Amino acid sequence: MAGTQVHMCQTIFPSHANHLGELSAGQLLIWIDTTACLAAEKHAGISCVTASVDDIQFAETARVGQIISINAKVNRAFTTSMEVGVKVMLQDSLTNFQKLICVAFSTYVARPVCNGKVDLKPVKLLTAQDFLKHTLAAERRKIRLDHEHVCKNLMEECGMNDDHVCSKEDAISTDFTHVQNIELVLPPHANHQGNTFGGQIMAWMETVAAISASRLCKLHPTLKSVDMFKFRGPSTVGDRLVFSAIVNNTFNKSIEVGVRVEAFNCEEWANGQARHINSAFLIFNAVNKHGELLTFPRVRYTTKDGLRRYHGAIARKKIRLARKYVLLKKEDNCTPDFLDRGNQAYIIKSNVTALTVLTAKPGWEIITSTLDHIKTFTLEETDALSIKVEMQVRIPSTLAFSLLSDFTHLVHWAKHYSTCEVIQIVTEDDKIYHITSLPDNGNKPNDFLILVSQRKPYQTGEPYIIAVRSVALRSVPPSENYCRCEIPCAGFLIYPDENASFVSYCIQSSPGIMPCVAANLAGVSKSIEDTASVCIQFLELNSSAMNCI
Ligand code: COA
Ligand code: ADP
Repeated sequence: MAGTQVHMCQTIFPSHANHLGELSAGQLLIWIDTTACLAAEKHAGISCVTASVDDIQFAETARVGQIISINAKVNRAFTTSMEVGVKVMLQDSLTNFQKLICVAFSTYVARPVCNGKVDLKPVKLLTAQDFLKHTLAAERRKIRLDHEHVCKNLMEECGMNDDHVCSKEDAISTDFTHVQNIELVLPPHANHQGNTFGGQIMAWMETVAAISASRLCKLHPTLKSVDMFKFRGPSTVGDRLVFSAIVNNTFNKSIEVGVRVEAFNCEEWANGQARHINSAFLIFNAVNKHGELLTFPRVRYTTKDGLRRYHGAIARKKIRLARKYVLLKKEDNCTPDFLDRGNQAYIIKSNVTALTVLTAKPGWEIITSTLDHIKTFTLEETDALSIKVEMQVRIPSTLAFSLLSDFTHLVHWAKHYSTCEVIQIVTEDDKIYHITSLPDNGNKPNDFLILVSQRKPYQTGEPYIIAVRSVALRSVPPSENYCRCEIPCAGFLIYPDENASFVSYCIQSSPGIMPCVAANLAGVSKSIEDTASVCIQFLELNSSAMNCI
């Protein structure tokens, strides 16, 4: 096997599965950690310990009788630590069909026997993929090491006040979801040096968390994702590990359970001196007998710790979304070429349809409403993240439609754009614009080539629609001076609201815009709310100017 790659293949036996015959998430975490640790040790040449495992999203479940393959590879060695990327695939032995179960990134620290530090050699980069993984590993490391700090800031920022959701009468207390368990670390749970395997600890954590979640679901919960597992200190054979879990918060279709692990050796056990070795947050959902995702009741806290954890869960959710999409550097190669006449009608139609479908999707969750007239929502799907901003504007909808559909006005309210010009008038209602942004922190400015399709309502009750999506035009190829960005789906829906308007702006994630969206989600920037405020001002000011004429 080439370089630092390690491959493991496992058949799922009943002993690896839960009572439903599904591979237990705990067993999967053990295999992920074992394979990744072996890859790290192959690179380091000495024993390694798990420092942390980044958040993992589980896309698929394996069942008894199926085979999974686990591939681990060191992406980058830093000084004493290295990042290992792990990909778990489900294999159908009859059809050879493969499905992704999850991708994980773990960090291992080389641990010489004498307890000193060892400087690792760099990883040999042979392919373009190796270079990309190497670069992304550095980005992930920054986010990883800053995780606690960012989380703390987000919690401080929200002020942790009681909010309207919590005080709702139907919100239920989570006290009954409290679960505690004790495990004694035996030699099979540890490596040859007696250090407890990180994967074993994660598996025990998952067991307790699942019990806690099942109390709220009243059904068998499924682990959907885990927040970062950070191994604060070592544990060894002979330790007693105490696991405490409780539901921290619920989010429409998912719940967050937190688990704290404390270790005691024999003496510490007698004195009650605990070593805090890990805390992690696991996200579960549950499916009813009709195969539908369960909607969870809102929860309320009864203690100060409960209040802190309730807000911690919201902060972690924002960071998870931001992390997922800031690192999603997928190449969007599906931007259709507008010169292809066969494409044009389809592109225009799909532009309007895609926006209508996106806004109507269920599952939009509110993330900020610090201002009365502006609310921000996210919609998280397997392969996309979308943002929606709702604004109340004190001008009639016809005026809002006319001002917003003329994108040459964009630079007046979206201050990060520098120019916006019409490149092609396809029909009276469908135009192609070229937009350039201002340079950001010395980076090359972005540019966009977008189709804007404006539609008036056919009947009362329907909104005005302004749909936006990227297109390609051979006459305006990407230039060296700009970084060409893609917008898969975006736009405005404008509803009349007596003499005012209710404006909803949606945008689906794309690599070019995600850093900005991610910064907003993580609370680092408020540019979305700020832009919405300027947009409202622009509309209200210009409508009085138009009325005067
Ligand atoms: N995630 C990823 N890497 C981390 C990290 C985290 N949360 N915390 C520290 N590190 C990295 C540092 O960046 C540093 O890497 P570098 O040398 O490549 O820059 C390396 O770990 C050592 O950091 P340092 O600050 O010198 O050491 P520390 O005192 O913080 O110890 C551990 C870090 C991980 C070694 C220590 O917390 C530990 O022993 N944890 C338990 C590990 C274990 O036993 N795991 C198995 C299950 S119990
Ligand atoms: P925090 O309380 O800030 O979240 P901790 O590391 O103390 O951080 O705990 C991590 C998680 O473990 C908590 O969010 C909570 O869900 C769970 N937890 C901690 N202590 C207990 C406890 N005594 N009983 C039940 N669950 C607990």
